[in-house]
Amino acid sequence: MYKLKFFIGLLLFISTYLGCTKAIIDEGSPTTTIDRVIKYDPDVQNIMFNNCITCHGGSAPSGGFTLTTYDDTRFYTESGNLVERINDQANPMPPSGLLSAEQRQIIAKWVADGFPEK
Ligand code: HEC
Repeated sequence: MYKLKFFIGLLLFISTYLGCTKAIIDEGSPTTTIDRVIKYDPDVQNIMFNNCITCHGGSAPSGGFTLTTYDDTRFYTESGNLVERINDQANPMPPSGLLSAEQRQIIAKWVADGFPEK
């Protein structure tokens, strides 16, 4: 009986542990395998222009801010919650669904590289 309880406990522990690991992977925060330096121009700029500026651009941008320049994008990445939101499955940016893992890794690597401009 004691052994059985131990076994069940062990199973619970393992499934909880695996559950957590999976949640972390699902939510992104991708650990990157990119081995080149990522610069704003062209890598990050392309992602912003293709996925974000239809809303975060122009004269009445969503959320009251634009992502059309290096300074804007760096500010919301470095001091804001851009990285959290692009990896937030429940409340992603863009709202239509998560960017690809590769696109999110590019942003993560740009942060790790220290936001080089070009
Ligand atoms: C369809 C329109 C739309 C698109 C496309 C879009 N956004 Fe947004 N975004 C919004 C709206 C509306 C808000 C404000 C409401 C909210 O926070 O969800 C917002 C809020 C945000 C915020 C939160 C700002 C804060 O102060 O909390 C970030 C960061 C953000 N967007 C980044 C992005 C990025 C990066 C992309 C492209 C990868 C993107 N958004 C694409 C509409 C959009």
